[in-house]
Amino acid sequence: MIIRISDAKNHVDKEVTIQGWMYNRRGSGKIYFLQLRDGSGMMQGIVTPQESGEEAMAETEKLMMESSVRITGIITAHPKFDDVFELQVKQIEPLQIPTEEYPISKKDHGPDFLLDNRHLWLRSSKQWAIQRIRNTIINATYEYFNNNGFIKIDTPILTPNACEGTTELFEIEYFDEGNAYLAQSGQLYLEAAIMSCGRAFDFGPTFRAEKSKTRRHLTEFWMMDAEAAFVEHEENMKIQEELICHIIKKVLELNQKELKILERDIEPLKKIEAPFIRKTHAEVVKELREMGSDIEENHDLGGDDETILTKKYDKPIFVEKYPAEVKAFYMKRDPEDENRALCCDLLAPEGYGEIIGGSQREDDYDVLLKRIKEYKLDPKIFDWYLDLRKYGSVPHSGFGYGLERITGWICGTQHIRETIPFPRMISRIRP
Ligand code: 4AD
Ligand code: MG
Repeated sequence: MIIRISDAKNHVDKEVTIQGWMYNRRGSGKIYFLQLRDGSGMMQGIVTPQESGEEAMAETEKLMMESSVRITGIITAHPKFDDVFELQVKQIEPLQIPTEEYPISKKDHGPDFLLDNRHLWLRSSKQWAIQRIRNTIINATYEYFNNNGFIKIDTPILTPNACEGTTELFEIEYFDEGNAYLAQSGQLYLEAAIMSCGRAFDFGPTFRAEKSKTRRHLTEFWMMDAEAAFVEHEENMKIQEELICHIIKKVLELNQKELKILERDIEPLKKIEAPFIRKTHAEVVKELREMGSDIEENHDLGGDDETILTKKYDKPIFVEKYPAEVKAFYMKRDPEDENRALCCDLLAPEGYGEIIGGSQREDDYDVLLKRIKEYKLDPKIFDWYLDLRKYGSVPHSGFGYGLERITGWICGTQHIRETIPFPRMISRIRP
């Protein structure tokens, strides 16, 4: 019977066949230990002349690292460790044996080498673990929204205008229509959709042509935008808090093995519970200056600011009410201070920094038109967006998370380039 490694516990003392890859082999003519993986998990196969026979020994000796194989044997429970199973090999059927040495070995490789070989690097156990956790985060996100009255709306990637800053747009020629741009966020389209369905989210690739070479920036990344009618600033933060708690709960429930492979200390993750810390931008600037930052009152937080601030706390921090001038045109202003936006960024602890950006949206036609002009955007291009304020405008809010930023935080990776299968950065578009 063919089984997957993840299912081994249900077949102890039975003969089964596993199909996968041999990623390592230890031993000599008397006994071999094969490290096997099949995508669902890892397992050790044991080959001896007495138990497995001379033929299996001979096949084992031919195997190279990353050979694909079909292996039959008896599953046994590990004598010492719980929940670990081994395969007492009876028969080996190589499917393809590499004729060259596998480029990625146990020795240290530099990041450039690994990124050049990303198509192979993905097979390494840590990379496998990261993609599994990323998958849990995606599923937990869908689950949260589906359970809370949001429906998934797919927003376009080819767009006629900017959503966020115009300096970060990828431009392409679009037939006779002039220039089109790759989406930076589906938010504006979600705002149209919620006037139909009330609450919506999207999830897809987004693009930023920003020249930022930091551990937090990619040029192509996956964003989830959520938007809700009749939700104002306070409730917007509550939804984010619940979503993040749900994601962490699911990862801790489903990915203990993966977190262990990543050597992620899970104590900080266990501490993540509502309510998160809340601070205004003004308070944060004061605090940062006391910590030695040279941030100015009307400036955005820099990457280093986010790092030092979030290292100080063990819970995520909402930073509310940024100076409006550093934020996007569509944000509603704080009724208590015209110069501040009714917005919040959510910063992840342990130095990770911004994972979510969100705000209440300007819902008044005249004010929004004024903002579009102030930001030197073309009102003609935003006519459809302005229409939403003409026909039954309502207070509404939303936010967007960066999937790679959240995955990086939960996995404890240094750079977010490891959290996306094929990273796109300023000087990297291959493989
Ligand atoms: O803060 P941002 O720019 O907000 C928006 O785009 C809003 N329209 C979202 C909304 O309200 N619906 O981006 C949202 C999140 C950031 O908090 C960050 O996690 C991630 O997207 N992000 C990036 N991730 C990787 N590489 C980049 N270059 C990123 N830029 C933003
Ligand atoms: Mg932001």
